[in-house]
Amino acid sequence: MDQFSHGARCAGAGARCAGAGRALPAALGLLAALLLLAARRDSRVVLTSELYEAGHSRPHAECCPARGAALRLLVLVTSAPGHAAAREAVRLSWGHAALRRDIGFAFILGSLHTRDEAKADAIRAEDVLYGDIIIGNSRDSYSNLTLKTLSMLEWVHTYCPKVPRLLKTDDDMFINIPRLLKFIDARKNETRTIWGHVYEQAWPHRTMWSKYYVSPRQYPSSQFPDYTSGAAYLMTTDVVGELLKAAGQEPYLRLEDVFVTGVLASKLKIKRQHAAEFLLSAEADNKKVLYHPCTVQKGIAIHMVRFHEQFDLWRKVLDGTTKCEDA
Ligand SMILES: *[C@@H]1O[C@H](CO)[C@@H](O)[C@H](O)[C@H]1NC(C)=O
Ligand SMILES: *[C@@H]1O[C@H](CO)[C@@H](O)[C@H](O)[C@H]1NC(C)=O
Repeated sequence: MDQFSHGARCAGAGARCAGAGRALPAALGLLAALLLLAARRDSRVVLTSELYEAGHSRPHAECCPARGAALRLLVLVTSAPGHAAAREAVRLSWGHAALRRDIGFAFILGSLHTRDEAKADAIRAEDVLYGDIIIGNSRDSYSNLTLKTLSMLEWVHTYCPKVPRLLKTDDDMFINIPRLLKFIDARKNETRTIWGHVYEQAWPHRTMWSKYYVSPRQYPSSQFPDYTSGAAYLMTTDVVGELLKAAGQEPYLRLEDVFVTGVLASKLKIKRQHAAEFLLSAEADNKKVLYHPCTVQKGIAIHMVRFHEQFDLWRKVLDGTTKCEDA
């Protein structure tokens, strides 16, 4: 499991206690160390506003013409500096469908460390070519995923407030844009809603070595509010400002989807609606079923897609010959 970004602060508290531990017999010392470890994990409760660095170094306001007034949909794909191949596959496959004038499209990254100058150069070059990489000011890392999502919401709030719908997705997802537009059109009048693959009655992992560990102090209740999978979710943008504002006052959770579409959405009474079209590969029997042309044509989002598979799926969306029931 990754370190929390505020690990340094906790290590300070730990050092103080370790001094007391030395005076104890070995067994008690070990016990103390374990308790200390638990306490350290527990003490990692920090308000999100203390971690989040607002602003964007590469805002690309032009990715949202007229502040979104002429757009039907904005697609923002969270990506990481090292994922150039995944971004390329997205641009060359389903990203094509997002080139329509009524859709906004961009990737969103966190900032790089100054020592990563070579990586930063590569990203600049990629961005000169495509002009579709927004870079937020919070540092890019796995444990900062939640900050990346907030950076995305802040961007929408600042540069694209008039767009009616936002799709948040990742660079390993296949998105069937034509199908998504149909889905949106059939739900034109909805407000304050997030659609996606909804998880109900999920509980926080309390084993410390779990990748998804959440301490009782970070999240005391034994059950998460309903939340949508972070792989892809669609939201009405009337809630963007509220989510952003509420986020700062909450203890930070690395689980981006639980935090935004669960904890915050439930506080703000934002509806979360399950949509079967948001498919997750883990739930499919095998990729043969999931990647059948009819599944692809009826689905909106497909999870855990490798670069070369993006092209295969895109061909299936374009395939006009396979007969599917109400595809
Ligand atoms: C997360 O982002 C914050 C804000 O930019 C930064 O201070 C922190 O070092 C980052 N954490 C990691 C693990 O990169
Ligand atoms: C949205 O509301 C308008 C006006 O009330 C109605 O005519 C239209 O059918 C509704 N559209 C959908 C997709 O529900």
